[in-house]
Amino acid sequence: MFILPNNVTIIEVGPRDGLQNEKKHVDEQHKLAFIKALLGAGITEMELTSFVSPKWVPQMADAEAIIAGTERIGRQFVLAPNAKGAELARAADVRSIAVFVGVSNTFNLKNINRTTDDSMDALEPVIAALKADGLFVRACISTAFYCPYEGKINPTAVVALCRRFAALGADELSVADTIGMANPQESYQLFTTLKKELPDLLLTAHFHDTRKMAMANIFAALQAGVDRFDTSAGGLGGCPFAPGATGNVATEDVVHMLDTLGITTGVDVKKVCEAVQMIAPHVTRPIDTGMYRLFENKQL
Ligand code: HMG
Ligand code: MG
Repeated sequence: MFILPNNVTIIEVGPRDGLQNEKKHVDEQHKLAFIKALLGAGITEMELTSFVSPKWVPQMADAEAIIAGTERIGRQFVLAPNAKGAELARAADVRSIAVFVGVSNTFNLKNINRTTDDSMDALEPVIAALKADGLFVRACISTAFYCPYEGKINPTAVVALCRRFAALGADELSVADTIGMANPQESYQLFTTLKKELPDLLLTAHFHDTRKMAMANIFAALQAGVDRFDTSAGGLGGCPFAPGATGNVATEDVVHMLDTLGITTGVDVKKVCEAVQMIAPHVTRPIDTGMYRLFENKQL
């Protein structure tokens, strides 16, 4: 028999990961309506936006307005790659900050213009200050399985980076298959190791669904004891600096699978689909997730 948790926390990343790579500008009012609908669907943890360079990621340039326009419900993250991002987030009264670093040096250079070590050195005092003031720190670990530039990543390097974040006092690790190349065996092994090595941190899995392996990888991660998953409504998503990657695994599909397994998420699939319907006309990516197709065909 499979060993499964009774409850799983869904961390909705649609407003951030889902939209950051969208080429067409999405108006702030549509983003806010999307976020509001997701909160109404029972989402209690969400990445709202990023404080990053507007030259690098123009779609996130309205971060302040998005934070100001969102009702504070549950845990709401804003991404920050450096001290400036953390400073802007604090000025906007954000209490949960997500920092992000790639295990792969080449990816990290393309994504945040620093080597992995340089990023970590720069983040050390930033995280210390956030923790001293009682903020929640989530550490997003990119290219934890494969890198679009360096290929297969050694799990030892992933564990070492995660350990470094743990030593800095991070509260959560969100470990990512940035380009959607991991298989269920790799998912199971890495998450089993991380659970064993770092039992005191919240451990979250973040799968992109490029090769339609995300659901199998989630099932493997559940077996490894993971009970937190980053997902994106409508399967939107992708990092602008990770060529070849497509969207995140879809919230509505993951919640449906968990529902059928008797695992509680507190999230309503139909209401997530309603949120997807609100954002769909404003994005260029076609939305073709299993549950959204059923919803559109009035079979939900
Ligand atoms: P840089 O050019 O080296 O930065 O970029 P800099 O420190 O030299 O500053 C250059 C300019 O950017 C300056 O402005 C700074 O003020 C400004 P200027 O004087 O030219 O007008 N700046 C900022 N503005 C706003 N917010 C900031 C900030 N920092 C500097 N925080 C930098 C370095 C990190 C800024 C840049 O590379 C960047 O913004 N990168 C963001 C990349 C990104 O957002 N990637 C997607 C998110 S990660 C992801 O999707 C992966 C994840 O989903 C997990 C997974 O799937 O793997 C999390
Ligand atoms: Mg991602």
